[in-house]
Amino acid sequence: MSEHGTTSAARFTLDSAFDVGTVNPRLYGSFVEHMGRCVYTGIYEPGHPAADADGLRQDVLALVRELGVTTVRYPGGNFVSGYRWEDSVGPREKRPARLDLAWKSTETNEFGLGEFMDFCGKTGMEPMMALNLGTRGVEDAVRLLEYANHPGGTELSDRRIADGGKEPYGIRMWCLGNEMDGPWQTGHKTPEEYGRLAAETARAMRQVDPDLELVACGSSSSSMPTFASWEATVLQAAYDLVDYVSLHAYYEEIDGDRDSFLASAVDMEHFIESVVATCDHVRARLKADKRINLSFDEWNVWYQKRPNPHPVEEWQQAPRLLEDVYTVTDAVVFGSLLIALLRHADRVTAASLAQLVNVIAPIMTEPGGPAWRQTTFYPFAQASAYGRGRVLRVEVDSPTYATARFGEVPLLHATAVIDDEMGDITVFAVNRGQTDALPLKIDLRGVDAHTLVEHLVLADSDPEATNTADRPDRVTPHTATGTAVTDGVLHAELEPLSWNMIRLTRRHA
Ligand code: AHR
Repeated sequence: MSEHGTTSAARFTLDSAFDVGTVNPRLYGSFVEHMGRCVYTGIYEPGHPAADADGLRQDVLALVRELGVTTVRYPGGNFVSGYRWEDSVGPREKRPARLDLAWKSTETNEFGLGEFMDFCGKTGMEPMMALNLGTRGVEDAVRLLEYANHPGGTELSDRRIADGGKEPYGIRMWCLGNEMDGPWQTGHKTPEEYGRLAAETARAMRQVDPDLELVACGSSSSSMPTFASWEATVLQAAYDLVDYVSLHAYYEEIDGDRDSFLASAVDMEHFIESVVATCDHVRARLKADKRINLSFDEWNVWYQKRPNPHPVEEWQQAPRLLEDVYTVTDAVVFGSLLIALLRHADRVTAASLAQLVNVIAPIMTEPGGPAWRQTTFYPFAQASAYGRGRVLRVEVDSPTYATARFGEVPLLHATAVIDDEMGDITVFAVNRGQTDALPLKIDLRGVDAHTLVEHLVLADSDPEATNTADRPDRVTPHTATGTAVTDGVLHAELEPLSWNMIRLTRRHA
């Protein structure tokens, strides 16, 4: 802030010669876990008026397509560490109901692997399959791979064909377990135990198909006591055999400290940079050429400290779990987390928003009722639609504000993506300030973008505003006023507590 109480301008310069890297479309992935109502009454609800012949809700499918999700991690999460994949295939009436230890729910297996592949096919999403390395191991991983991907002529691949999967599923990305460092995880392991199991599983899977892309479990959060040494030990054991290490992070406002919450991406960027450093340290130690990339395969805002407002019984089917309702403030933080991922697009080459429907999700449904977009839907959909191409290096010169957790933090958090083919530039920017508009100046002469296409904003006079079944469109993006390009410089005012997408082009209007 200036001494007169007005916020001085934030600024940065774009130059097409200075980039971070090209966005891998897999950055816009999501996650479907057999948990709560993500699957049952979320994506799958036979008998719902919008359900298709396979029980998939077409209203939800339409929203998933609109969201622009590219990949989908499945079937967990903590659930996967007790998953018996063979329970989820074959004739439905023969599939057993099982106890799901992770969420203390009953899993009916009515929706299984074949139904998931059908869901992927109908939405154009790439499957990213997680393996149970909690209660199971190498043999089971290879059996599932054979069932899913082998063309035919073996007991398991022929079983898939008999189950209706004539063509191999061709699943390329596989997660070697989930959060195996967490004491809550069924079959939790030490880094030495997990590193060896991940390496042996990966080796066997590559004997079936050397071209698979394999994700080793990193820490379940950067606050774990074993963070970084876990990654180093696991990678030391499995470096040559895996392609990615995973990262998971969830953020929430704690004790009313909104200023720190708005700066959550500071933590996320630090986390990413620490994992990159750890991967590259092991690379140096092993004198390896190959680089390990990052799969940020669980990220979101999640109010873990809030009690569940819904009554839930033990071993219930599809209980209401983690049905967080997101505010405008949450969407701004969420957008900032997306910006953090894009700013590291050179190494974060896959990511999964956890989760997709009903469970800490951008899409909500009511059983027998409507489906609607949460506030967080919009930053994701816009980033997926327009955040494709090369991420340009953005060094912001911004006024700062004080936070209890992160010290002085820039009010502006931003990134820019250039689509070289079309000559379009998209800037994603967040104003973390809660009270004042933030003037923004972007020098565009290095990208030769002179035409403003649009400036869309997600902000509201009520930062607690949400979308609900009754008011599904209470919060939607609106067009900013006053944004203009003059003499190669973009001038805009970012509303307080706002997510912004500014699209520019080299083409003439
Ligand atoms: O996404 C919810 C849960 O969070 C996942 O099951 C687990 O992997 C993580 O702890």
